[in-house]
Amino acid sequence: MSTPSGDYVFKQPHLLGLKEYSAGDITHILDHAVHFREVLNRPVPKLPTLRDKTIVNLFYENSTRTRLSFELAQKRLGADVVNFSSSSSSVKKGESLKDTIRNIESMKIDMVVVRHESPGVPYFLTRCVDATIVNAGDGAHEHPTQALLDMFSMRMKLGDLKGMKVVIIGDISHSRVVRSNIIGLTRLGAEVRVCGPKTMMPLFVDELGVVVSHDLEDCLGWCDVAMALRIQLERQDGALFPSIREYHQQFGIKMEHLRRHKNFVVMHPGPINRGVEMESDVADSNRAIILDQVTNGLAVRMAVLYLLSGRASEVENYR
Ligand code: CP
Repeated sequence: MSTPSGDYVFKQPHLLGLKEYSAGDITHILDHAVHFREVLNRPVPKLPTLRDKTIVNLFYENSTRTRLSFELAQKRLGADVVNFSSSSSSVKKGESLKDTIRNIESMKIDMVVVRHESPGVPYFLTRCVDATIVNAGDGAHEHPTQALLDMFSMRMKLGDLKGMKVVIIGDISHSRVVRSNIIGLTRLGAEVRVCGPKTMMPLFVDELGVVVSHDLEDCLGWCDVAMALRIQLERQDGALFPSIREYHQQFGIKMEHLRRHKNFVVMHPGPINRGVEMESDVADSNRAIILDQVTNGLAVRMAVLYLLSGRASEVENYR
């Protein structure tokens, strides 16, 4: 079987963010993910493609979905996997990030998947070691594999992203998910609105090629996809909106919205604050594809690891 995007040559050495990725690169990953999604439905959902690779998951911040999904994707592709958690490491004894990564590299690793609270850490690691670096979320900068799995999920559910109407609701200022999604979605031709309180909009947000709205009802009547973002309670000082209750009243997706507007599907990157970003029944309704996003994330991360490993040029197929 040939590569899904024909003769397309994927040349990216790392995945630091979608900013560095063209529409062709993004489409190439999404096309490959279709095939890995099929692999996941097989009785034995495993391939030996990365059996000679060693991958470190370097997590300085908490994670459930991203960390487990990367680890499973690596194991499904046959890689050797090592997990590093800063909370149980020599970071607690004062070891620097640079020393940590250079010591890990000395153990002969090929790839690093990194999550860190500081923007730019994945880029910094490319200056420290020769391994391939994959960004699993860096501060409020980017979360590229989340955006890729979101785009993949929209495409699986609704078809071509070109012309798709997507509203992203919530804390636009603090969100790395929204940043990566805006870059990816606009590059693939989707129309994007962002909706939330004025206090949660970054300066110059309209320069990102999106329409800004503060009217949830209007946005839900317009969109094909409503993606609610997690309100990052740990990053609020109570200053950005008067109360959680008021936020939910104005920007929470409710069952009455699903009844009034029949078209849109509901997405959320997780973890959800039930009763804040949306009513609990909305999250559990058949309009929500939140758990599909998680399943699709595994296929998308398999595609990312496969393409970044350089195997696509060496191996003719992944049957
Ligand atoms: N969506 C997401 O990044 O979730 P985790 O923080 O659980 O990885």
